Amino acid sequence: MRSSLLVLSSAAALAIAGPCDIYASGGTPCVAAHSTTRALYSAFSGSLYQVKRGSDGATTNIAPLSAGGVANAAAQDSFCSGTTCLITIIYDQSGKGNHLTQAPPGGFKGPAANGFDNLASATAAPVTLGGHKAYGVFVAPGTGYRNDATNGIAKGDAAEGMYAVLDGTHFNGCGCCFDYGNAETSAKDTGNGHMEAIYFGNNKVWGTGSGNGPWIMADLENGLFSGQGTKLNSGDPTQTSRFLTAVVKGQPGLWAIRGGNAASGSLSTYYSGGRPTVGGYSPMSKEGAIILGIGGDNSNGAQGTFYEGVMTTGYPSDATENSVQANIVAAGYGTSSLVGGPAININSTISLRATTAGYDTRYIAHNGAAVNTQVVTSSSTNALKLSASWTVVPGLGNSGCISLQSRDTTGSYLRHSNFALQVSANDGSQAFREDATFCPEAGLNGQGNTIRSWSHPTRFFRHFNNNLYVSSNGGVHDFDATGAFNDDVSFVVSAAFA
Ligand SMILES: *[C@@H]1O[C@H](CO)[C@@H](O)[C@H](O)[C@H]1NC(C)=O
Repeated sequence: MRSSLLVLSSAAALAIAGPCDIYASGGTPCVAAHSTTRALYSAFSGSLYQVKRGSDGATTNIAPLSAGGVANAAAQDSFCSGTTCLITIIYDQSGKGNHLTQAPPGGFKGPAANGFDNLASATAAPVTLGGHKAYGVFVAPGTGYRNDATNGIAKGDAAEGMYAVLDGTHFNGCGCCFDYGNAETSAKDTGNGHMEAIYFGNNKVWGTGSGNGPWIMADLENGLFSGQGTKLNSGDPTQTSRFLTAVVKGQPGLWAIRGGNAASGSLSTYYSGGRPTVGGYSPMSKEGAIILGIGGDNSNGAQGTFYEGVMTTGYPSDATENSVQANIVAAGYGTSSLVGGPAININSTISLRATTAGYDTRYIAHNGAAVNTQVVTSSSTNALKLSASWTVVPGLGNSGCISLQSRDTTGSYLRHSNFALQVSANDGSQAFREDATFCPEAGLNGQGNTIRSWSHPTRFFRHFNNNLYVSSNGGVHDFDATGAFNDDVSFVVSAAFA
């Protein structure tokens, strides 16, 4: 075995070694390798992930452009053209069969039919790697992936390592837990030490680091840990980079948190030392399921974006992880535009006209907080014209998208709340800013724009019974109906009436 490893790490191979080639060379091979953006082995040319489209329910697998390369986003764009797409499977590249699929109900139920979690939009987290477009996994609250019947993942107190590349600007604190890693096979909380997963966010219920967060912590069950103590460990810094590498590893009596900017520089060690001294964490009782975007008991209130991650067998050395970080930086993660379709310019005042046959003289307007469609013409009252007029401002929650300010109610914006659109005053909260942020795309029926929710990107402005919702293409609400979806979510944007 040793000699084949040496062959693998000969000069030419090393130059193109992927993260899992590097872990294997270090004697701590990957036993799970997940990414929608690229191959994590230099020789991997199989399927990275599967998408399912809304128009006919068909699925397709997305592979790298070449062995070891970036995902073929153009194949996805072509397959999903004119409809919506969800990520249904994130394949395990390690050969262990540890694929991630829609998380089933656990201690907590998800919002989809039968209590499953929602699937992620396939198009909500565009990035570039070395200039090639790819898509990450945008986890809105309620979204989750899982595998409860794994092969080769650490159990009990066995050693393991893991890293994930995440969007360092997409997180929350109110919900538990945006995690990637080792969890309970029952999807229920079975006690302290039954998990060992990367957590990212600014939840302050359990551990915290320095500053206001977000922090990389470890979800060890019944606690997010930033170090050995159960509360503040000031060696764990607030993260600020757009692309973030997060590392957690554990072996008997020892564990560590490391992290760094995934687009430049090296990893730092934020904690390395003994297990928490409160009961139940030494020895650990890891169960070996894999979760993405949720807690071990399927708690699904958190949000974040995942690009790639692996789990290893054995405790990787810092040197091995440093080489992996160099590979991640060399992959060249960069940002990509979040909007498409006809341009909607910042500072313009606009109207939005429905395009569904029989409704196409109606415009998005409001009566107080309630948002609806109303027939507006040049002879309408000035009050009605104003209520159907919106000023475009940079997105309050992400400046790559837009927010729409009411023309007749200064300081109030269109936002969604319980998936209904409202006109509400900006209360300054993170939830308001994010729920008032929308990303216009090309109209799904070929007319105008379809207006995607930034925070719940499987959802789009939709008129339904003349009221406005953010709707998904199929789902548990009547306003998620698939019939007429493309027409109901497509609006022609023109200059405002007033
Ligand atoms: C929008 O208007 C504000 C305030 O007048 C101005 O500062 C800003 O530069 C404008 N932005 C664009 C993109 O025109």
